[in-house]
Amino acid sequence: MNNFIFQNGTKVYFGKGCVKEYLACLTRKADTILLAYGGGSIKHNGVYDEITGILKEAGKTIVEFSGIMSNPTYAKVQEGAKLARDNHVDMILAVGGGSTMDCCKAVSLAAQYGGDIWDDFWARPGVIDFAPLPLGVVVTVAGTGSECNGGAVITHEEKKIKTGRDYPQLNPSFALMDPTYTYSVPVKQMISGGFDILSHIMETYFSEPNEDNVSDDIMEALMKSVIRNLRASIKNPEDYVARSNLMWDSTMAENRVIKMGKKCDFECHNMEHQLGAYTNCNHGCGLAVLHPVYYRHIYKAGLPKFVRFAQNVWGIAQEGKTDEELALAGIDALADFIKELGLPTTLKELGAEKSQLNEIADSCSISQGSYKTMTHEEILAIFQECYE
Ligand code: NZQ
Ligand code: ZN
Repeated sequence: MNNFIFQNGTKVYFGKGCVKEYLACLTRKADTILLAYGGGSIKHNGVYDEITGILKEAGKTIVEFSGIMSNPTYAKVQEGAKLARDNHVDMILAVGGGSTMDCCKAVSLAAQYGGDIWDDFWARPGVIDFAPLPLGVVVTVAGTGSECNGGAVITHEEKKIKTGRDYPQLNPSFALMDPTYTYSVPVKQMISGGFDILSHIMETYFSEPNEDNVSDDIMEALMKSVIRNLRASIKNPEDYVARSNLMWDSTMAENRVIKMGKKCDFECHNMEHQLGAYTNCNHGCGLAVLHPVYYRHIYKAGLPKFVRFAQNVWGIAQEGKTDEELALAGIDALADFIKELGLPTTLKELGAEKSQLNEIADSCSISQGSYKTMTHEEILAIFQECYE
């Protein structure tokens, strides 16, 4: 294993009924709470009523911050920070998916900072030497794993940049995770969130070291769990066992545990984020289009790991295949799974224009953790192969 330091500042309360059981206690020190949520799904599935009921009974002043969009923008962060400051908010409670949680992490920082947080913390890494506003989250959809890390992916619309930073100080102090809250997620979103989980694991697994390490073993188990439980959740969206496994898979993929000792790639995420900045495409859908094509570009540089992936995740036997043939069979199995899920397979389906590809490719960050360091020309070639 490579050297590492591990810490995770989020306390998780997991399982059916956890919000009812713990929310009042977890918010006891706050008088005024910024209740943040997205486009309104929580008003249709009973989550809003349950949460506001608990907070009102405890005598809290609730300030609502609603309408957080998928791929949250820097303008939305500033709106939330102003609300928090104007109303002397003591705590932020983010109820939703990655977009709401990420936006609120940035709000928790912006509300306490005099300068421009984009310039000082997102455009380049900064040092947080002050306390952000306390943040707790209630997770309503599995996918990003944002509940257990300090990562926040924000889109600057004018600059056409979608980028994430992971500051440990932005880890939510608590995460309430009731799998039954995810029953109402539309099937398409459940699938794209499920693919995002798989992507986080693959982006970590397909990176150095290749020598025996516990992180890779955990990841093989996690990938099989995502595949199995996503299939089960599609069959029956109210399968508690499957939804709870999927929800915890999502956290495990991004709570830093599997990254220990790993270099981590995340080039597909870099590419997807810029596609998102230009097209506002769905995160998991963008990843689904890119992964198989990207892997066909890099597998030769990480052959032993791609062979392991074919054998241990997809159960493909060597049976007279060369290592290269076996590695490619694993990537084909991934591509078949994407088709089985009904995810998009071309950039055209995501709404990208062919004429934009050059500019988008040039704007992508280059990962230093890839088996094969990309050039902007190769990223463009991948985009072109994915186009239609
Ligand atoms: O906005 P509402 O009305 O709540 O509807 C949302 C939204 O339309 C809906 N939804 C969520 N829970 C629901 C529900 N609908 C019905 N019932 C429920 N229980 O789902 C839709 C998608 O929500 P969103 O939060 O946008 O999705 P997701 O969790 O996939 O988050 C995506 C964002 O997170 C970033 C992505 O780039 C993207 O901006 N990421 C954040 C990461 C992190 N912080 O660690 C890592 C990821 O790689 C990712 O980049
Ligand atoms: Zn992701």
